[in-house]
Amino acid sequence: MENLKNKIAENKLPDHIAIIMDGNGRWAKLKGKPRVFGHKNGVTSVREIIEGCAEIGIKYLTLYAFSTENWNRPKLEVKTLMALLVSSLKKELKNLQKNNIKLTTIGNIEHLPEKAQIELAEVIEKTKNNSSLTLTLALSYGSREEIVNVIKNISEKVVNNQLNIEEINEKIINNHLYTFSLPDVDFMIRTSGEKRISNFLLWQMAYAELYFTDTLWPDFRKENLFKAVLEYQNRERRFGKTSEQIETINE
Ligand code: FPP
Repeated sequence: MENLKNKIAENKLPDHIAIIMDGNGRWAKLKGKPRVFGHKNGVTSVREIIEGCAEIGIKYLTLYAFSTENWNRPKLEVKTLMALLVSSLKKELKNLQKNNIKLTTIGNIEHLPEKAQIELAEVIEKTKNNSSLTLTLALSYGSREEIVNVIKNISEKVVNNQLNIEEINEKIINNHLYTFSLPDVDFMIRTSGEKRISNFLLWQMAYAELYFTDTLWPDFRKENLFKAVLEYQNRERRFGKTSEQIETINE
């Protein structure tokens, strides 16, 4: 694995990696266990991937931990996911501090159980001055809902004469997203073989490289992350330009 890590070029790292952690339920089913067993093991992958990102120098990592649609899952599963969130936050604070990692969230945090909100607020406050990696948890998050809110907020400013319609541009929209302080997503990873974006960071992923792997989330560990980053580094990002133009810029 060290070998794999050494192959990663420091000067071609994605700034911002976003991950759809999928396949916990199927992983558990394959082992004849209840779905929540998969989520519990998924937490170990979360820890390894955060650590792996910190080791190679990734600046921003955003994890899709709970979507707005996930509220429709069986009550017990939702309860277990929230309990796992609270216990992981309690356990991981020390590691976040040690590794200089700042925690932030995106999504409708006010819809989470109070316990989770309190725990999140505490870890966010205690890690706010950390600067090596910004770890963002998407919780009760949906991208379309985020965009609807942006439109409402901007419209209100227009109605109140705080903003002219002509002034609305991509930067203004960016500044109204939950992710206003984060750069665009460079690299999106989804585990478990599903090839969808599922309402995750639609605006922010406009130019992201997409990486889909059959590995189920509880099996996705550091080695898998390093392999994915190496593939990212072998791709050519053109942002609408030709290969020749990109070569000239890089010369
Ligand atoms: C998708 O698997 C996973 C989730 C909906 C939740 C992800 C949560 C964790 C890994 C644990 C808690 C998170 C933190 C940040 C401590 P799935 O249930 O959709 O799997 P399936 O598609 O196989 O059913």
